[in-house]
Amino acid sequence: MHNARMSQKAQPIHTSGATLFVRSYAKINLTLDVLGRRADGYHELATVMQTIDLYDTLCLTVIDEARVRVTSTRPDLDGDDNLAVRAGQALRQRLELPQGVGIELDKRIPVAAGLGGGSSNAAAVLLALQQWWQLPLTPPDLHAIAATLGSDVPFFLTGGLALCEGRGERVTPLAPHWPRAMRWLLLLKPTIGVSTAAVFRSLPASDYTDGTHSRAVGAALQAERELQPEDLHNGLERGVLERYPEVAQAREDFLKAGASFVRLSGSGPTLFAPFSALANAIRVRQHLHARGYETYLTRAISPHAENILFF
Ligand code: C5P
Repeated sequence: MHNARMSQKAQPIHTSGATLFVRSYAKINLTLDVLGRRADGYHELATVMQTIDLYDTLCLTVIDEARVRVTSTRPDLDGDDNLAVRAGQALRQRLELPQGVGIELDKRIPVAAGLGGGSSNAAAVLLALQQWWQLPLTPPDLHAIAATLGSDVPFFLTGGLALCEGRGERVTPLAPHWPRAMRWLLLLKPTIGVSTAAVFRSLPASDYTDGTHSRAVGAALQAERELQPEDLHNGLERGVLERYPEVAQAREDFLKAGASFVRLSGSGPTLFAPFSALANAIRVRQHLHARGYETYLTRAISPHAENILFF
């Protein structure tokens, strides 16, 4: 499907006068195939992503200064290189907008974790300002701006479930169906942060695949067929487990705690395990908490659709 056909309905927005609140959801990569290295230094990908019910909250206001300013619950994110700031600046520059924007960011999505938090914040700012200020931008315009900000940003313009190809910016939305066996998602966030660029840089060609896993998973989900654990491939996982012993240990502990299947999300270090029954997820989480791990119990969510149907 072409990007221009992507629905770009607004995020759930609550506004009263001069202030606008918006939620910005995290994602997991159900599968991630790295096909090879491109001439521009990026890697050609095929990945199936799903937004999950773990979100940051952004509060936008118009400010008198002619710039975009961010204040966050994590002071290390308060600079101009914050992707949310860069998204606001990109719109101001593109449309020569005089007004400045203040962003207050309640950061709940772990940072540098493979959950797309920064990219999601950027997409949330693009969508929110476009809707709030009725900006004259078509969906392809917004998509093009998103793609300049980061490979994952276009996905977050629609969210939900999608197959993403190219650098990640070629987004094909899939129907919001999700296997019952994955009704609950337990996330484990090791304490380290991981640089996506470093993970890609050190990836050997022997970890490349031809995209089969992601296309097969996309097709299975569309056809409402159950997935096999071995379908949920992540071409970055082997390298991350080898390079970061803390992630390998966390994976082992996750399995020992009772998860039957554990996969890395994106470039990590966050690991996720699917569960059909909440009681099992809670039992595993209790074991992990006893060992001092940071966990998040979450589920698939489609920000622009009422519900996800489970099959
Ligand atoms: O696009 P984004 O800025 O999020 O990517 C961060 C880094 O991850 C890039 O600088 C690049 O090193 C690596 N990357 C890649 N291939 C992709 C996406 C990201 O090599 N498709």
